[in-house]
Formats: sequence, structure tokens, C-alpha cells
Amino acid sequence: MHTTVGIIGGGPAGLLLARLLYNAGIDSVVLERKDRAYVEQRQRAGILEQATVDVLRSAGAGARLDAEGMPHDGIELRFDGRAHRVDFPSLTGGRRVWVYAQTEVVKDLIALQLADGGPLLFEAEVHAVEGADTDRPVIRYTHEGREQTLTCDYVVGCDGFHGVARDAVPDGVRTTYERTYPYSWLGILADAPPVYDELIYAHSEHGFALASMRSPSVSRLYLQVPNGTDPADWSDERIWDELDARFAVTANPGWRLKRGPVTAKSVLPMRSHVTEPMRYGRLFLAGDAAHIVPPTGAKGLNLAATDVIVLARAFAQLKETGSTELLDAYSDTCLRRVWRAEHFSYFMTTTLHADPEQSSFETKLQLSQLDRVATSTHAAAELAENYTGLSLDVDS
Ligand code: APR
Ligand code: PHB
Repeated sequence: MHTTVGIIGGGPAGLLLARLLYNAGIDSVVLERKDRAYVEQRQRAGILEQATVDVLRSAGAGARLDAEGMPHDGIELRFDGRAHRVDFPSLTGGRRVWVYAQTEVVKDLIALQLADGGPLLFEAEVHAVEGADTDRPVIRYTHEGREQTLTCDYVVGCDGFHGVARDAVPDGVRTTYERTYPYSWLGILADAPPVYDELIYAHSEHGFALASMRSPSVSRLYLQVPNGTDPADWSDERIWDELDARFAVTANPGWRLKRGPVTAKSVLPMRSHVTEPMRYGRLFLAGDAAHIVPPTGAKGLNLAATDVIVLARAFAQLKETGSTELLDAYSDTCLRRVWRAEHFSYFMTTTLHADPEQSSFETKLQLSQLDRVATSTHAAAELAENYTGLSLDVDS
């Protein structure tokens, strides 16, 4: 089999890229190692920036998002017994975000691709990319028990943090920047209506907590827990008690979450990672294959989307004009935005979590920073601009 663009991985990056290429008249094949049900059920984050919403709409994947997605005009910060709302539109010239689960984005893109896109193969596990520095790179994979090869004009590794595409970049070419954090998140889904209008990010002496949602009747909640935590050690009651303690506001002592049956429970590690460059020869890396952010800044899915927007534009330029100018600029174009998101995610993470080694001095610095956001329009605008997403025009 031969294709113009071989895409490894059917997560949001790979699926959106396939859709954008299809709309530009460029053929591609997506190889996804898991089965469809697995990919569609995997629980991930759920905040979409305006630019991500815009591209999904223009790609034809906006119908359910517009019907079921929940626009949000701010977030609430809780710290030191206080509650403070950061209003996005007034601080950013009108920008907002949407709550729409990544898993729903994935379902919408899969349905479109299977209805009228190029091939999307499930249970197709890629083992290696060969000849990335030649004119005819090859993807080796197993499908239906048989070893297969896909020759390509270009290969895009959208295979996430645990994928294989990154390994095709030789050690001497690749530089990795990394940080792991001394805490994880315990995430739950609960059949309980969210009793809060905005997402709540809480700093507390018990550690960080986040209240998000999936629908008017389903809450998505997270708690900071030690690395290595077994979710089985956290009974539902312990989780709810701990969440209420972390969200407590002095002026409103009766405030409680609405409780309901917990339908999913899992522990997520927190990591920052960037691989440079994001291109080697005819191999491009996009999304989590190239960079990871801790979820506190809600940037992972949006970074994946912007990578593939930049890449799809570059492939369209190549097709229309024969120029590789945008393809050649891909890595630099993306990395500028990636590092901004890395910084913001690091800032949110280290400002809101309790590091087990942290001194009382450092706790005071965190509280001072949060107080600054709550009292300075400049500090709040800096947060709001980063949270809602910086302009797609990275040269401005
Ligand atoms: N062969 C084929 N597919 C693979 C292989 C392989 N060897 N290795 C991994 N994959 C698939 C995974 O099964 C997964 O479906 O690649 C896909 C990668 O998808 P994601 O991990 O969702 O990464 P990405 O599409 O870049 O999306 C980034 O995901 O982790 C979240 O917070 C992150 O929201 C961000 C988003
Ligand atoms: C989520 O809804 O899953 C979510 C929201 C905001 C975050 C992380 C996760 O920062």
C-alpha cells in the first residue's frame, strides 16, 4: 500500500490531521493500534480553545460540539478560603473556552472519517518507521495478524507519548526536555450534577483539586494524590470528603459538591516533556508524540490540534505550489507555541499543587501569586490569555 501521508495513531491529532488533509484533497492512511471501542471510551481531558472549536467546525466536525458542548467564560480559583472568578471575555477581548470531552471529539472524527474519509485501520500496530531521511519512508505494522508495509511520501507520528515514531529520530538529532512532578491526579466521573457554573481550580493545604463537568448531570473531578496511588485505596466517600475539604470557602461554610454514583476512577501521572526538533527528514511528530503537558493548564488537546492545523496548511501549500516552505518551518512554528503552553502548564501546576517537599515559605509564595491574579487585571489577563489560547498566528 502507498499513500501521500501515513499517519500513525488515531487519537485527536491523527484523526484531525486525516480530516484536514481529506478536505484539502490529500490522501492519507491512519494506523491505530487499539480497537475502535477502546479509543472511543478512553477518558481524557475536556477543554477546547476557540481555535480548536473553529477548526473542528470548519472541518465539518462541529455539529455535536455545538449542540452538546458547554461554552465557559471563566474559571474560579479557590485558595486560602477565598473564591475568585477570572472572567475571560473581559480580559481577552471576547475569548472563551468550551467543555466538550476529548473522547467525544474522537468519536465525531472517527464517524466522519469512516463515512467519507481515507482508510482508518484499527488494531493496526506500527513497529517502526524506516527511511525517514529518504524520499520514500516506510511504516511497518501488523494488521489482522499479518506484517504489512505502508510506503509514504511523508509520515506523521501522532502516536502519543508511548508511540514509536519518536524512536525513528536518531539520538544525535533529538533533544528531550523533561520534568516529572512529585504528585498525580485521581480523576473521577460521577453521575452528579455540577453545582458550580465555572471550572474550579483549588489550592489547599490538603493539595490541589479541580471540579469540571461533562454534562448538566455528570461531574468530572480531580484530586492531587501521591505518585503510585492505587485508586482502590480511595473509597467514594473518602473522595467526596476530600474534595469538599479542598474546595472549602470561609465565607460560605455550607458549600458542598452534589454527590452521586462514581462511574470511573483512575490515576494520572503529571509530566512535562518536549522533543526537539518535531521533524526529521520526511517524518513529522505531532501532539503527545512530541510534547506532553500536565493537565492543569488544559492545553494537551489544544496543542495537538494546533500542530496538525499547521501541518495540514503546510501539506496544502506543497500540493498547490510545490513549495516546502511551510513544511520546513513546521518544527520552529510549533515549538514556539509548545514552549508557551509548557510554561503556562508548569505555572498552573506548580502554583496550585502542594509539593510534598515544599516549605511554608513556598506555600506563601503560591498564595501571594494567586492573590496577585485575584487583585491585578494584568495578572488575571496573563492567565486568561494563556488559558483561552494564544493566537494561531505565531509570527505576530
Ligand atoms: N501504532 C499505532 N498506533 C499507536 C501506536 C503504534 N505503535 N502507539 C500509539 N498509538 C495510538 C494510541 O493508541 C492512541 O490512540 O496513537 C494514539 C495517540 O493518541 P493520544 O495519546 O490521544 O495523542 P494525541 O492524538 O497526540 O492527542 C493528545 O491526548 O493525552 C491526551 O492530553 C493529551 O489531550 C491530549 C491529547
Ligand atoms: C477536564 O474536564 O477533564 C479537565 C478540565 C480542565 C483541566 C483538566 C481537565 O485543566
